[in-house]
Amino acid sequence: MRIIQANDYEHMSELAANYLIDKVQTNPAIVLGLATGGTPLGTYKRLIKDYEQNGTSYKKVTTYNLDEYVGFSPENPNSYHAFMYDNLFEKIDIPPTNIHLPSGTALDLVEECKGYEERIEEAGGIDVQLLGMGSNGHIGFNEPGTSFQATTHIVELAQSTREANARFFDDIKEVPYQAITMGIATIMKSKEILLLVSGESKNDAMKKLMEGEVDESFPASVLNKHSHVTIIADKEALSGVNVR
Ligand code: GLP
Repeated sequence: MRIIQANDYEHMSELAANYLIDKVQTNPAIVLGLATGGTPLGTYKRLIKDYEQNGTSYKKVTTYNLDEYVGFSPENPNSYHAFMYDNLFEKIDIPPTNIHLPSGTALDLVEECKGYEERIEEAGGIDVQLLGMGSNGHIGFNEPGTSFQATTHIVELAQSTREANARFFDDIKEVPYQAITMGIATIMKSKEILLLVSGESKNDAMKKLMEGEVDESFPASVLNKHSHVTIIADKEALSGVNVR
């Protein structure tokens, strides 16, 4: 895994945006895997700014998001659909038909999981998957203990994840208990992975990722087995980490 050290959140976001802009300019029909959460927000802001100022086009780009809350329709302001439209999609020129997120309201969720996996395959797979990491090592919504073989599936959210994500809701009671997420096997099939890590709250997770065992009890550890991973992490996240 290649590590790029950033000074702080803003610097990490700038490096990540430049990285993605370069990928889109080199391959305008790129298939991007995208993430939600606080970590990629600064990156998305910079992609929008670059689109406005330099006209980098997303007309041919296809996107697949990692996850969605079960029971939330795209109209729900706390859905990941809404998050992605508010923070990126409606501010760039990507056609809505090129945007994909798992549906949290599909009548048959098992079928939705299967279909999502197939749609990614049909697009030729994900070229670059952007990832954040939960402080318990979750990627997407793959919580500790998830099989590394799992493809898109329904998960029960860990209480720590519900608590961490409660900041986006008025009340923790509104945070769903279940989500639909790309599996670890789905993520690992991406040709390339860009992981962003920022802040002291991710320092322990960063240590485990770099120094710990590759084990299902810490989902992000699987990234050590992927041949093309770039991590952009800031000083706080990297503090005391033995970068090998
Ligand atoms: C959320 C998302 C993940 C995200 C992670 C970290 O639960 N499902 O995709 O990477 O938690 O979130 P944050 O970037 O806000 O720390």
